[in-house]
Parts: sequence; C-alpha cells; structure tokens
Amino acid sequence: MTDHLKLIRTAYDTVAADYADRLRDELTGRPIERAALAAFAELAGAAGGAAAGGGAVAEAGCGPGRITAHLAGLGVPIFGVDMSPGMLGVAQRSHPGLAWARGYLAALPVAAGALAGLVAWYSIIHTPPGQLATVFAEFRRVLRPGGALLVAFQAGDERVHLHQAYGHAITLDAYRLPPAWIEDQLAAADLVTHTRIVRDPIARESTPQAFLLARAT
Ligand SMILES: C[S@@+](CC[C@H](N)C(=O)[O-])C[C@H]1O[C@@H](n2cnc3c(N)ncnc32)[C@H](O)[C@@H]1O
Repeated sequence: MTDHLKLIRTAYDTVAADYADRLRDELTGRPIERAALAAFAELAGAAGGAAAGGGAVAEAGCGPGRITAHLAGLGVPIFGVDMSPGMLGVAQRSHPGLAWARGYLAALPVAAGALAGLVAWYSIIHTPPGQLATVFAEFRRVLRPGGALLVAFQAGDERVHLHQAYGHAITLDAYRLPPAWIEDQLAAADLVTHTRIVRDPIARESTPQAFLLARAT
C-alpha cells in the first residue's frame, strides 16, 4: 500500500464515528446535493433498466454510508466500497440492510462492466492529482457503456494539509481541484461529462463545491 493510502486509512479510521455523527443529517439542508443525487439515481436506473439486464450501482469511498443509504432510499440497488475498516464498520452498524465491501478507488472489487452507476462523493479528494487518471480508468472499467457517474469535490486548485478533523489530530492532504481539469481527465478515460454544477460555498465551506455527472461511452 502506498504512503498516501496508509494516511487515508489511518485518518478515516480515526475520525469515522465523529465524522458519521457530524454529517448524518447534512443532506437535509442541501437541496443542490439532493438534486444531483436524484438525477444520478434516475440516470443510473435508465442505464440499468430491464433491457440492459438490470444494473448494480456502487459508491466508491462510501465512508459511513450516508450517501449510499440516501440513494438506496431513492430505490437505487447500491452497495458501498471503502478502504477504511473503521468507516466500513460504522456503515455496517448504521445500515445493516445494505452491502459494504473493502476496496480502493483504483482497485474496486467489481467485475468489468458490472455497474449501471458509480458515485464518488468527496472520495477523490485525497488522491494526488497525478494519480487520478488511474482512478478514472478504474471507474470506466467497472461501468457498462452508458453507465452513469457522479463525482463530487471541492473546486479550487490547491493542496491543503489537514492537521485536525472532526475533533481528532490527523495528517492528511486534501486536493481542491479545477472542475474543467477533472472533466478533461474523465474524458481521457472515456467518461464524458454532460452536466456540471458548481455552487457557491455555504455554512463553513471555504470553496465552491463541484458536482459532475458523466456517462461512460
Ligand atoms: C470525505 S469522506 C466521504 C465519505 C462519503 N462519500 C460521504 O460523503 O460521507 C472520503 C472517504 O473516501 C475514502 N477514500 C479516500 N480515498 C480512497 C481510496 N483511494 N480508496 C478507497 N477509499 C478511499 C475514505 O476512506 C473516506 O471514507
């Protein structure tokens, strides 16, 4: 395991319970996020319709499972994948009716072309930008042609070192990413963006938030 993956696992194992407590009801006050997730649910459903043989959906980097559970509540046949055992433990305890699996963004435990949809909700933010091409190639590998992708991240163009999060001392880098550059990276992996949402910061956020919907070609 590379150093950056070890840092991600240690940090998220450390904050898992408090992260889950802090963000449990966050979507309630976030209409733009819920709209993006609802659009994704519909697009993934269309890509996984009966004619296409049905289709599973995954959240890559699911953390405590709040987004996975929200999409399950919209009728999406979804399971969660994360590399942090601490996060997966919280997800399993909070949502025992859903399936959770250990895996990495660049090595998902999913067969090629198996998914009608994949959501990466603030999970690409700790991957060094130079390694995102590998992650997006993996996203394309697991999606069927026409499959839906939703990627959420903080917009910007900088690396931020985190010393503290959710009441714990941690050491972890987070990358704020230019949405147009992410679009180019997705396109290079045959993931074509068709809808871009960038909203202004609210509450304690310090950057705009980006939500990109793409389709596997
Ligand atoms: C900011 S949290 C977001 C969790 C969840 N999507 C949510 O919005 O609540 C980032 C999550 O992505 C996971 N993650 C980050 N990089 C990963 C990687 N390379 N492979 C697997 N999981 C990763 C972390 O373990 C963490 O649970």
